[in-house]
Amino acid sequence: NDDQFKRVVSHAKEYGYIFGSSEIYDGLSAVYDYAQNGVELKKNIREYWWRSMVYMHQNIVGIDAAILMHPTTWKASGHVDAFNDPLIDNKDSKKRYRADVLIEDYAEKLNIKAQKEIDKAKKRFGESFDEAQFVATNPRVLRYKEEQQEVLARMARSLEAEDLADVKALIEELGIADPDTGSKNWTEVRQFNLMFGTKLGASAESATDLYLRPETAQGIFVNFLNVQKTGRMKIPFGIAQTGKAFRNEIVARQFIFRMREFEQMEMQFFVRPGDEIKWYEYWKETRLKWHLSLGLGEENYRFHDHEKLAHYANAASDIEFNFPFGFKELEGIHSRTDFDLKAHEKFSGKKLQFFDPELNENYVPYVVETSIGLDRMFLAVLSNSLQEETLEDGSSRTVLKLPSILAPVKAAVFPLVKKDGLPEIAHEIIEELQWDYNVIYDEKDAVGRRYRRQDAAGTPFCITVDHQTKEDRTVTIRHRDSMEQERIAITDISAKISKSISY
Ligand code: GAP
Repeated sequence: NDDQFKRVVSHAKEYGYIFGSSEIYDGLSAVYDYAQNGVELKKNIREYWWRSMVYMHQNIVGIDAAILMHPTTWKASGHVDAFNDPLIDNKDSKKRYRADVLIEDYAEKLNIKAQKEIDKAKKRFGESFDEAQFVATNPRVLRYKEEQQEVLARMARSLEAEDLADVKALIEELGIADPDTGSKNWTEVRQFNLMFGTKLGASAESATDLYLRPETAQGIFVNFLNVQKTGRMKIPFGIAQTGKAFRNEIVARQFIFRMREFEQMEMQFFVRPGDEIKWYEYWKETRLKWHLSLGLGEENYRFHDHEKLAHYANAASDIEFNFPFGFKELEGIHSRTDFDLKAHEKFSGKKLQFFDPELNENYVPYVVETSIGLDRMFLAVLSNSLQEETLEDGSSRTVLKLPSILAPVKAAVFPLVKKDGLPEIAHEIIEELQWDYNVIYDEKDAVGRRYRRQDAAGTPFCITVDHQTKEDRTVTIRHRDSMEQERIAITDISAKISKSISY
């Protein structure tokens, strides 16, 4: 799977999805640029999310708050005091790691070992295999699962109690080594704040220290009453937002999985105190459905309910996705209680309450949030879609089986040859389609090569104009996944594309 991950990274560059930031200067670690295809895929994912959240829910509206916020925001939110990662250095390699990530990776390995036992047994017993029974009774699987839970629970307890010495003790007891060098010579664990600082103002004396927002959520909390009043919103209601967030991440590996500048898609849902767990369950289910609607495979998702809760939450769960490097967090659903609004009331001295006409009382609403990293979703889609297929004639093809609705380019239009008036017809078709879809023209190389190029770029349809087109105004349309071709009228192309990308 390491190989698959490397393929994804190099494919992303070769086909114009993602470049390292400022590459001519050797790049900036954990910062990336979206290229001509990447920007389209990212926009389409954002749009797919926005439609399902804002347009499909009459009680959710969107905003776009600024990245820079009054610095007291981050005092109130707890980020100045509590937005830390536990760091540990390896004394020999001089490399720095997140202690919790080292432990989580160890726990994930136990999970993989358990899965291997299950897969082995599945092969051995075939049809008659009862997986649930096996998992519940096989001593090895039980041992792996038990150890995994114990390790994670102990880490959660120590972090919760800020017992960093115990986090280090755990790393030593488990014999965790530097992943690069194998050295087990660790320093103490210490806390490191993840916020990026910047300055507002011209002269050094008068400048104000600011932070780049580490989450988009706070822009929603501080606008809660503005939106509620101007939108005449009644509880329960939600505010959605997409935008950049910044974190000075220490473990900057795994490509766009963990970035220093990234984009979040968040929705804060304001509810009556006491109703939050009901809504938390509702949003867990609704968000999972959204993921499944893209068809990346049900088996690639799982929930991970948190024992270790962030400073603001009373319940939290991740939707994890099966990335090439294993199951990892893709989205978080958090019941944030009234922590944020209460804190902003306290620090600003302004009331942030809702008058509930049914209860005839004022209260600070509780919040359930759904928070997904757009870049992480991009990686999930890209890594899942990249496939190497062996064809009937023994040859192989690289194909990016992106959900059509997300594909950067919906159709490529080819003239069979560069003469006889075929390019002109191809351009006419493009001029018609480009009002509704991102379509491109390609006349270089044999048609077979052009198909392969579009397969690898993820284009769901290729449309070829040939000599028959001149006679009867029909073209061949080739489907990326099945490679089947059919002859259709030029006037039917748009409907064909539209059908494949309807919501
Ligand atoms: N407002 C809640 C919040 O920010 P989080 O779990 O810290 O919660 C939410 O982040 C989501 O943002 C994560 O599930 C992940 O998809 C994405 N995310 C967080 N840090 C990231 C990073 N450094 N790079 C890319 N995505 C990140």
